[in-house]
Amino acid sequence: MQLPDDDTPPAPPVRDAGARFPRHFFAREDERDDAEFYAFPRFVTHIDGGAIAAVGALYDELGIDGEVLDLMSSWVSHFKQTPARLTVLGMNAEELAANPQAAVTVVHDLNEDPTLPFDDASFDAAVCCVSVDYLVHPVAVFGEVARVVRPGGKFVCTFSNRCFPTKAIVGWLYASDAQRCVIVADYFRKAGGWSEPMIDQRTPVHHFGDPLYAVWSTRA
Ligand SMILES: C[S@@+](CC[C@H](N)C(=O)[O-])C[C@H]1O[C@@H](n2cnc3c(N)ncnc32)[C@H](O)[C@@H]1O
Repeated sequence: MQLPDDDTPPAPPVRDAGARFPRHFFAREDERDDAEFYAFPRFVTHIDGGAIAAVGALYDELGIDGEVLDLMSSWVSHFKQTPARLTVLGMNAEELAANPQAAVTVVHDLNEDPTLPFDDASFDAAVCCVSVDYLVHPVAVFGEVARVVRPGGKFVCTFSNRCFPTKAIVGWLYASDAQRCVIVADYFRKAGGWSEPMIDQRTPVHHFGDPLYAVWSTRA
C-alpha cells in the first residue's frame, strides 16, 4: 500500500465509522471495485484438505443446519451434511452456480453495500469461511448477520493464515493469527446482538498443514 512520504496521512475512507479501529485499519492495496477482482471464477480451494475437514467438523459439532447463509461463498461450502436450505452469497455468479450444496445463490458486494438482501430472522445460522479479512465494513456486516439470523442461531467465522494480500485489509495483514482471532471477536462485540464470542484453534497446534481458527457466537 502506498503511504505518503511526509507524516500527514491521507484522509482514510470512512469505514465502520465510530467503531474505533486504528486509522488505515480497513485500507487495502487494491482499492478497485471488488467486482473487477472477482470477475473471473476461481475453481480452487483456499485451504488444504485438513483445514477444510476441520471446517466441516466444526459445523457438525455446532449443529449448523436448517436455513443457513454462507457469506462470502464460492463453489464450495465445506459442509459434511448439506443444510436443509443453503443460501450462498458471494461475488462470482459462476462459482456460486457450481456450488453443489447451494439451494439459493446471491451475488452481492458487501463492501459496496453491507446491507444483506434478506428479511429479518430469515436464517437459522450463518457461516463465513476464509473471507472475513476482505470486509471493509465488518461491524456493519456482523450487525446485518445479527438481523437476519434467528435468536439462538450461530454465526461461525473460520480462517487460516492465507489470503489474497492485495484485497485483505491492512489491519489483518499486520496481525498475528492470535490477534486475528481477537479482531473477529471484536467485530461480534462491536456489532452487538451476539453473545460473548468463542475462539478456538481447530487444527492441532503441532500441525504441518494450514491452521484453521474459528470465532463464533450465538444470536442473543
Ligand atoms: C478466499 S475466497 C473463499 C471462498 C469460500 N468461502 C471458501 O471457503 O472457499 C473469498 C470469497 O469472498 C468473496 N468476497 C470477496 N469480497 C467480497 C465482497 N466484497 N462481497 C461479498 N463477497 C466477497 C468472494 O466471492 C470469494 O468467493
